[in-house]
Amino acid sequence: MAVLEPTDPIWAAVVSGLRDQWYAICVSSEVDDKPVGLTRLGERLVVWRDSAGAVRALEDRCPHRGASLSLGSVQGDCIACGYHGVQVRGDGTVASVPALEHAGLEGRALVRTYPIIEHNQTIYAWFGSDKGTPPGALDLPSELSEPEWDGFQCSATWQCHYLYAFDNLVDPMHGSYLHAQSHTLSGGASQDRMVLEDIDGGFNIARASGQRGMNFDSGDFLFSGIDWIRIDVPYPHSAGPGGPFRIIGYVTPIDESACVVFFYRLRRVEGWARNMWRFLYKTSLEGRHWHVLEQDRIMLEAIPSDARYHENLYQHDIGVSRLRHVLHSRMRDRLSAQA
Ligand code: FES
Ligand SMILES: [Fe+2]
Repeated sequence: MAVLEPTDPIWAAVVSGLRDQWYAICVSSEVDDKPVGLTRLGERLVVWRDSAGAVRALEDRCPHRGASLSLGSVQGDCIACGYHGVQVRGDGTVASVPALEHAGLEGRALVRTYPIIEHNQTIYAWFGSDKGTPPGALDLPSELSEPEWDGFQCSATWQCHYLYAFDNLVDPMHGSYLHAQSHTLSGGASQDRMVLEDIDGGFNIARASGQRGMNFDSGDFLFSGIDWIRIDVPYPHSAGPGGPFRIIGYVTPIDESACVVFFYRLRRVEGWARNMWRFLYKTSLEGRHWHVLEQDRIMLEAIPSDARYHENLYQHDIGVSRLRHVLHSRMRDRLSAQA
């Protein structure tokens, strides 16, 4: 695919993050009894739990004079602004204006709401292209519901464009170089070719030699209401029972210079093997995984923001190229449907 100019309107829309789909916005443990302020896709959200424990998300803007609701407090099913106490329900309507009797704001829907789904340690929000767009279906990776899989969700903020993080995940060959000294990605050939294959719901990028189970040898990119990747990484014997280590990953833009990455770290383990996996993860494996992820973060954060206009892609970049093509096509189709 030709590199598009920065003025291409479709590409500009892709760069700011595709709307009309779901995104992971944070892990469940980040939201307890206090409001949390988040920026995702350039939009400011306040997220909290109501009295039943359900996660609610609103635009982080008080309907009175625009203060950040995330600086307020949770009052039952409402969030109370810290400035003058205006209370807003999870559906965006003003519940009360305590400082004034019979205020006209009461009962009016004045704050944008974000549909929310919480599942398996993760909170997802729907980002519609306008306020009235009803949320679409969200088909989460089956591993997140199947009882034989067990794992941990982790997230990190990276100071790089979200597309760099996705590029990195459809680029298996970097495993043999950037992570050559790691506990999981030191094996296999350091020279190969790549092959692309269409699969149900997305595409697969893999080593053409057929090498598997030695390195980051293959990865799936899928879109099912949310964009996600699936990668299996070999584990050494010292990592205990459960076979390869499966990563399910999401990337959510914060703005055009930062993103949040989410990586489920999963293993097919049950019974005593599950207990051993969880023990080993907490005592030794988690630290090693963060070490590998830091190698990615440091490399991606140092790539300049205009890199895509100066790059010279080669055969290994067919995954990067396909990813851009897929995102561009989806955005083009959405824009023409809206027109
Ligand atoms: S700005 Fe929020 S109550 Fe006044
Ligand atoms: Fe990596």
